[in-house]
Amino acid sequence: MTDYVRHDLRIEPTRDELSRQRFVSEMRRHILGDLAREMRSAYDKRVEPALIGEKGRKPEDGAEVHRAMRGERSYRFYSALRVNCQKLVWRSVIPTIERNLHGLNRKVAAAAANGNGCGGTLELRPGLDTPPYVANHDVHLMPGCYHTERGNDDAAAGALYDNGTAVFSMGLFGSERADIGASIARFIALKFPQLRPRRILDMGCSIGSNTLPWARAFPEAEVHAVDVAAPLLRYAHARAESLGVKAHFRQMDATACDFDGEPGFDIVWSSMFLHELPPKKVRAVFREARRLLRPGGLMLHMELPPNCRTEPYESFYFDWDSYYNQEPYYKAFRDMRPLDCCVAAGFDESNFVEFIVPSLARNGEQELQAYVSRKGIAVDENTGRLSPTIRWYCFGAWK
Ligand SMILES: C[S@@+](CC[C@H](N)C(=O)[O-])C[C@H]1O[C@@H](n2cnc3c(N)ncnc32)[C@H](O)[C@@H]1O
Repeated sequence: MTDYVRHDLRIEPTRDELSRQRFVSEMRRHILGDLAREMRSAYDKRVEPALIGEKGRKPEDGAEVHRAMRGERSYRFYSALRVNCQKLVWRSVIPTIERNLHGLNRKVAAAAANGNGCGGTLELRPGLDTPPYVANHDVHLMPGCYHTERGNDDAAAGALYDNGTAVFSMGLFGSERADIGASIARFIALKFPQLRPRRILDMGCSIGSNTLPWARAFPEAEVHAVDVAAPLLRYAHARAESLGVKAHFRQMDATACDFDGEPGFDIVWSSMFLHELPPKKVRAVFREARRLLRPGGLMLHMELPPNCRTEPYESFYFDWDSYYNQEPYYKAFRDMRPLDCCVAAGFDESNFVEFIVPSLARNGEQELQAYVSRKGIAVDENTGRLSPTIRWYCFGAWK
């Protein structure tokens, strides 16, 4: 059963729309489950032995597996279906959004004008340039990408992201699709009880799904979030107000934030953000995060595990989006070594951290607590995979 939007910005699908949305989620489950298993088995039985026969060795990296898999029928079928299913994710929610857009935009504008008393804020900067890597292509095939506005006070892209990810995630991201933030914020609170953050920043927050868990995990902290896309931020603010969580959303480029005159942050966080940036911008984000942190503060990024942590077949599997899902920087990002990125930004090598965090929604509090005392990290077949026992990877550094 797919987990649909439940807060005040919920829009009601017709029965036909709902069954289409459920169908798309189930089709994704089939592709990522059954078809992915078939593809793996074809690799083990045919493709890898042929490659070893030809080269006299196992493949060295994901790119080599990708070249070998291109001719494999199960892979071509998997990819064709997955691309089409990704397009259907968005198409399955667009009619519902279009029918409800007027009312939705009115609600969002009312929240911007009045809030609902929980004290969150929204600050937009109409003059801010949308970076070309957002403006020039529809990231993960989402029509109009994050930034497109169809009129004043438009929040359609926010609704598209929220409802689309509900279909995309097949119910695996928890009821508010906040599982990444909820699991990792809880993990950090348990692992570092001495860390009492007063200010937290989320970079590339989109609609704030993984921002709000930080406010819940650290109720004493002031939570800020930045993104370049106005329609997402309008929606994020109205969503937070409707959920009764205080957070401050600002339209800002994460590579050049201007929180002038304000003290620094104790935690600078991002989730699923860095892989959408060209490598030069990734490096700029790390430098900016370090600049914004107070001494003793923590920078933390959630992403898929990097290629240096995965076997060639897993690397090939995770890099799929880079080739077929309009995420052109995904592989380049996963090829970067997290430790090197932190050190290049000025963090001390000894302050580097890396964690595997089990999903709170899928595995529960007890499993999460068991991971708090673990030493070292082991990337397994559940890490980053949309599986029923998913685990999240994150890394960063103390300043
Ligand atoms: C995949 S989404 C992030 C998802 C979000 N963090 C979450 O957990 O749901 C990437 C976001 O980064 C934003 N973005 C891209 N470049 C940016 C930049 N330079 N500064 C701030 N936000 C940026 C996009 O507008 C988009 O909302």
